[in-house]
Amino acid sequence: MLRAKIIATGSYAPAKKLTNLDLEKMVDTSDEWITERTGIKERRIAGEKQTTSDLAYEASKIALKQSGLKAKDIDLIIVATVTGDMPMPSTACLLQNRLEAKKAAAFDINAACSGFLYGLSVAESFIKAGTHKKILLVGAETLSKFTDWKDRTTCVLFGDGAGAVILEATEGENCILSTHIHSDGSLWELLNLPGGGSKNPPTKESINKGLHFLKMKGNETFKAAVRTLESLVTDTLKANNIKPSQLSALIPHQANLRIIQATANRLGLSMDKVVVNLDRYGNTSAASIPIALDEAVRTGRIRKDDYILLEAFGGGLTWASALIKW
Ligand code: ACO
Repeated sequence: MLRAKIIATGSYAPAKKLTNLDLEKMVDTSDEWITERTGIKERRIAGEKQTTSDLAYEASKIALKQSGLKAKDIDLIIVATVTGDMPMPSTACLLQNRLEAKKAAAFDINAACSGFLYGLSVAESFIKAGTHKKILLVGAETLSKFTDWKDRTTCVLFGDGAGAVILEATEGENCILSTHIHSDGSLWELLNLPGGGSKNPPTKESINKGLHFLKMKGNETFKAAVRTLESLVTDTLKANNIKPSQLSALIPHQANLRIIQATANRLGLSMDKVVVNLDRYGNTSAASIPIALDEAVRTGRIRKDDYILLEAFGGGLTWASALIKW
């Protein structure tokens, strides 16, 4: 039976750092508040002209190099993002053009912070179906461009970046064991970016009202995330007959250290098994898991035959998980 295997990873973050101390000068906040409530110390910010596809391109080049494949070998490109270069065409098509991956079909996925794991689920399905064999999956965001830098309840949280993986078909047992995707659209108002679509097309008024900035009811989202992730991670392990003690690493979406700790506690996992990098990047939405995965691979935290659990929660609401035997 065909299954999907991640054969290479890559990531990229813009050079510009914005620290909590920098934010203290911009809004009524403090390093102490941000660190205690979120775990974030600094985040990366894209240049004025730097787009989401630019970040995706840099991460993809690294993953391609590591895989030993050429762009022309890729038959599908999926980009998970809520901050694409433009509403049309897809950021995946722009990336295909930059990479000259002429054989690839390309499309975007919008599942907010769960986008990368939604993409992993879709990529896995295409590979299992046998229709596509070499897939480039990227999570890339420039949330800084959709952030209200006067709103202290959101501007301290987000950052920019991109992570990429290459998936290939395998008949071996080192592969994606399962993926799980869920949504609850009734809670869409907890987290949204209301402007720019058919509901609120761009007008002077929509801009003045700040509708083109991301909005979040942070505390309600926090509670929904903790509640949902607890059952998500235990259900994912149960579906595969794997005990928490067999896990070598948990790679969570990097939104808030307290959410991550609650999930680790539920599994009885010590924090040294949990990959955390939100102190350096903040919440990069769909990019957070592939960036953390790439860093874990490159630093040798993940080795062959390790069981790795990935999980995410975000706007939609959406939530998703994946279990991988590396
Ligand atoms: N600096 C100082 N004070 C602040 C700041 C700030 N930056 N932001 C808010 N406050 C204040 C609030 O005004 C409030 O003051 P009050 O008590 O006088 O009203 C107080 O701090 C507490 O605010 P809460 O919102 O209750 O704080 P909470 O502990 O919930 O932390 C946070 C806020 C960090 C946003 C948290 O709720 C969170 O992480 N939520 C979940 C985020 C998430 O997982 N999102 C999903 C993924 S994102 C995506 O899909 C794009």
